Amino acid sequence: MHKDCEKILFTEKQLKKRVREVAESVDATVQGKRPLVVGILKGSIIFYADFIRHLTAPVELDFMVVSSYGSGTVSSGKLKIKKDLDRDVNGRDVIIVEDIIDSGFTLANLKQLISERGASSVTIVTLLNKACRREYDIRPDYNCFDIGDEFVIGYGLDYDERYRSLPYIGILKKSVYSE
Ligand code: PRP
Repeated sequence: MHKDCEKILFTEKQLKKRVREVAESVDATVQGKRPLVVGILKGSIIFYADFIRHLTAPVELDFMVVSSYGSGTVSSGKLKIKKDLDRDVNGRDVIIVEDIIDSGFTLANLKQLISERGASSVTIVTLLNKACRREYDIRPDYNCFDIGDEFVIGYGLDYDERYRSLPYIGILKKSVYSE
């Protein structure tokens, strides 16, 4: 275990099993379709790569980079898009893949944006759901794990751009971010 990790929350084995289960459930709903799978960078990158490998439906891949500036304040403005989709979502079945839902600001805005662009359906798949922090009315359609109000790292998730490549999800030691 990394020295900055308080404890491991989900092991590689647990992640592998659960991601497969969720991906298979999603896959069953998109048979006969050609969904556009949208990864929200960067946190979702490892989850996304594992998730799509369990889909048997013919998928197209796309990515967005958005700013979570304003997150945590109910009066915040619109989501800032740093990198938009390459594909047109009009008439498409869109699957948004996120690493974590915290306040819900990012996904509430993204879901609205993609719906307004004419998507036939928008399905939200998240690795982690921190429901205790929710401020915006958004719920994932698929969620791998519920977590409490803890600072989690690994499997794509960072603190100050560190720890993303850890193969497990751990809780960051408080001493690291309160220094
Ligand atoms: C994280 C996460 C979500 C968002 C969730 O992204 O990936 O996009 O915050 O928070 P919210 O529900 O309060 O909006 P972050 O800005 O940390 O970027 P990253 O994915 O590059 O780590």
